[in-house]
Order: sequence, then structure tokens, then C-alpha cells
Amino acid sequence: MDRDRLLGELNEFLRIPSVSTLPAHNTDCRRAADWVGAELQRLGCSDVQYLGSETHPVVWGKGPAVPDAPTLLIYGHYDVQPPDPLAEWVTPPFEPAVRDGKLFARGAADDKGQVFCLLKAIAALPKPPVNFRFLIEGEEEYGSKVLFDLLKREPQRVRADAILVADMSYVAPGWPAVYTTLRGLAYAEITVRTSKTDLHSGEYGGAAPNAHEELSRLLSRLKGADGKINIPGFYGPVQRPSKTELAAWRKLPFKEKDFLIKRVQGKGLVGLKQYSVLERLWALPTFEIHGITGGFTGEGAKTVIPAEATAKVSMRLVPKQKLAPVERQLAAAVKRLAPKHVTATVRFLHGADPAQIKVNSPAFQLLAQAFKEVTGRGSVPARAGGSIPVVPALAWGGAPVILTGIGLPDDRLHAPNEKLDLKQLWDGIEVFRRFYELLGSLDSEVRSRG
Ligand code: BES
Ligand code: MN
Ligand code: MN
Repeated sequence: MDRDRLLGELNEFLRIPSVSTLPAHNTDCRRAADWVGAELQRLGCSDVQYLGSETHPVVWGKGPAVPDAPTLLIYGHYDVQPPDPLAEWVTPPFEPAVRDGKLFARGAADDKGQVFCLLKAIAALPKPPVNFRFLIEGEEEYGSKVLFDLLKREPQRVRADAILVADMSYVAPGWPAVYTTLRGLAYAEITVRTSKTDLHSGEYGGAAPNAHEELSRLLSRLKGADGKINIPGFYGPVQRPSKTELAAWRKLPFKEKDFLIKRVQGKGLVGLKQYSVLERLWALPTFEIHGITGGFTGEGAKTVIPAEATAKVSMRLVPKQKLAPVERQLAAAVKRLAPKHVTATVRFLHGADPAQIKVNSPAFQLLAQAFKEVTGRGSVPARAGGSIPVVPALAWGGAPVILTGIGLPDDRLHAPNEKLDLKQLWDGIEVFRRFYELLGSLDSEVRSRG
């Protein structure tokens, strides 16, 4: 493996600022799609297609035919989250830099570095051992609508013996994982209006309603200081993990104190204290405020009563919760909690159902074997707190969806100084190379039982 050459190629990919949520980066997203397409062509894909959208197309590819071998569909995304706050990056987000064996760049771990890993593991083989299919999308970080609609129109795209998604991390250094659930997501903007225009806070203060004050009150009613979400019906479908699963989590190398000190780097944890931290992160729904706008936030001082305030919020959903009813529940709760003198509206931006995956088909055992051979430990089942909106749709055709990854829990996804440990990348290429090989020798009879 020529690591210098590989690193140079990955850096090229990482230098493209393919931020899918910002229209100013539309051409960059298209460039990232082209980068992926060219890579697929190098792997011998004959008919690389750009599907569903001009600006954030899904890149589809079909590897060389390998008669009698299983079909493996590889999913990934070439888009990234916005890089702000820029001032906190040690080196700029789209100028990849290696420090101390770690590659720093937006997208290094989520998900360009991992897409790169899956593709270079194929290139490391003398010839493809399985029938590869590729769906590499450019809108994962904005709800995956393009791919979702494509799969609704063309469900045959997910026809495969297994689907491989590497967009996650090990549970801890040295502990590779496969994930049995992903949380879903409902992303919304809550806007509160209290008057036609902003008002002088001396002339009107004391009698006129204040949009920021009303919004704060509304938000604090939606979720209390104890961490409980006060949306009627919201917790109804939530199920506790089984005793066996909770016991298995206690054996994972996860310490609540380390999580606070090393990862959160704060002064204390919050949330529903009667549940373990892992249960709060993996098996309970959330309500988070991402940002609040409105009123005066510039330099200096301005005495004004804001007429309008908006909060961007999202809720993470756990298995059995469904996006559509949760959206209705939030809209109803906001309506009920807003006082008469306030106009409150909810606008939904994007969302996803949660995913639940059975990890007992043969492909999971082969991946565990590959991890074991390369890293010394097989993959352990875990749950994920994050979301990949299209995963439930990938499972429509009945193929097992393998959720795994080569990142580490401290990769700082979506945050400043995102990184990928290069050891994880080089190991990862070996792991997936071996996995493809093992899958290729999988007996067709076992496959159909899987
Ligand atoms: N790769 C992440 C999902 C992830 C992160 C899963 C960590 C498990 C652990 C993915 O790119 C992501 O960030 N998804 C978004 C989806 C959303 C914008 C619809 C997320 O989870 O916020
Ligand atoms: Mn991702
Ligand atoms: Mn992400």
C-alpha cells in the first residue's frame, strides 16, 4: 500500500468544500460527486450515473460482474456539515493537515475518509471478489431527500445480498462495532411573533410582549430542567432495552466519568438521571436547541423589544417512534403551550425514521472475522445516537444493512478540528479488503438462508 499516494488522493477529496446545506457550495458538491464518479470508474464501473439532482446527485456505480458471487451494495456520503466556527480550527477545515498521526479536515471521518477507505479496500484486491454496487449520496447531512425519492422510484437499486455502511466509529479505541439501531430525527424551526414590528423598550417595555421572552418560556416548557420532554404522546412508543442488552453495555469500555471529562469536557452531565448515560445516548429520544435568532445580537447596545424570534430545534427518535406522528405532536404542543398573545408557528426542515437492524446474518460474522484478524478484536454490537436518514429505505429490499465504521468516538464530527486517525484508515482498508474477500467465498446456499 503506497500510503503517501493514498493520503494525497484523500486530501484532494477533502479539499472540496461540499457543504450540502449551503447553496453557495452547490458547485462544490457537484465537484465532490465527480471525484467519486472518477474513483468508481477507476474501480472498473462501466456505467457510473449521477442521479436525482443536478447539484447534489447520488453517484451510482456497478462494478465488474463476478458470476456466482454475492452482491454487495456500498453506501456513503460525499457531503459534509458546515465548518463553522472557523476561528476554532487549528488548521483550516478544507486544508487537510496531519498532526500526530491524525488527519484533520472537515469530512475526514464523516464521511469522506470512510468512503475512501471502502473504495481503496477494493483497489487493494487483485480483482473484485463480489459484485459491487455503489450509492454515494450528497445530501445525507440535509436529510437525504434526493436518495430517498430515488429509492421510492427505483427500489431495485438496493437489491443486494448485503449493504455496507461505514459512517460510524469504533465504540472505543480497539473496539470495532456494528450498530443495531440508529436514532431518527425531526428537525424544525419554531417561530414566535408578538407584534408587527420591533418596539422601543422604554416606550413599550412593561406592557408589550417580547418575542424572545415568549420563545424562551415556550422552549423551557417543551423540555424541563430535569431533561424530560413535555410533548404529549412523545414517549409513548419508547421501549427500554432488554436486561441482556443493558448488561452487554455494562461490559463495554465506557465510563460515564471519562465521557464527561474527556469527551464532553464540561462540568456535569444532564438528562434523565434515572437512566445510564449510554441509555440516554442510545435508547432515549432527545430535544435539542441548535440556535436562536431574532432581536439585537450585534456589537454594542440597542434597547429594543424584538417582534420575532426563531429557534432551530431537533428531536432524536428511537425505534418504534415515527417521524410523522412526532411532527404532529410537536406542532400540537407548541400550539397548546403558546399564550393567546403569541403567534407560534412550526416549520419542519427535514427528518428521518429511526432504524433497527438484526445483526445475525452471515455477513456480520464475516465482518467480525475480518476485524478480528486485522485489529485483534471482532466487532461488538452497539447502538448509535446519530442518524442516517436513508438507512430504513436501504433495508426495504430485505438485504442486511451492516452499520459500522473506522472512526473513533473522539473524532469531533460536525465540530471544529474533525479528524481521522491514520492508523484507523490503514487498518480499515485491510479490514474491508479482507471482508470483501471472505464475502466472495461465501457459499450461495448460506447466502440465501442469511
Ligand atoms: N455519520 C453521521 C451519523 C452518525 C454519527 C451515526 C455518529 C452514528 C454515530 C451522519 O453523517 C450524520 O451526521 N447524520 C446526521 C443526519 C441528519 C442531519 C439528518 C445527524 O445524525 O445529525
Ligand atoms: Mn456521516
Ligand atoms: Mn454527519
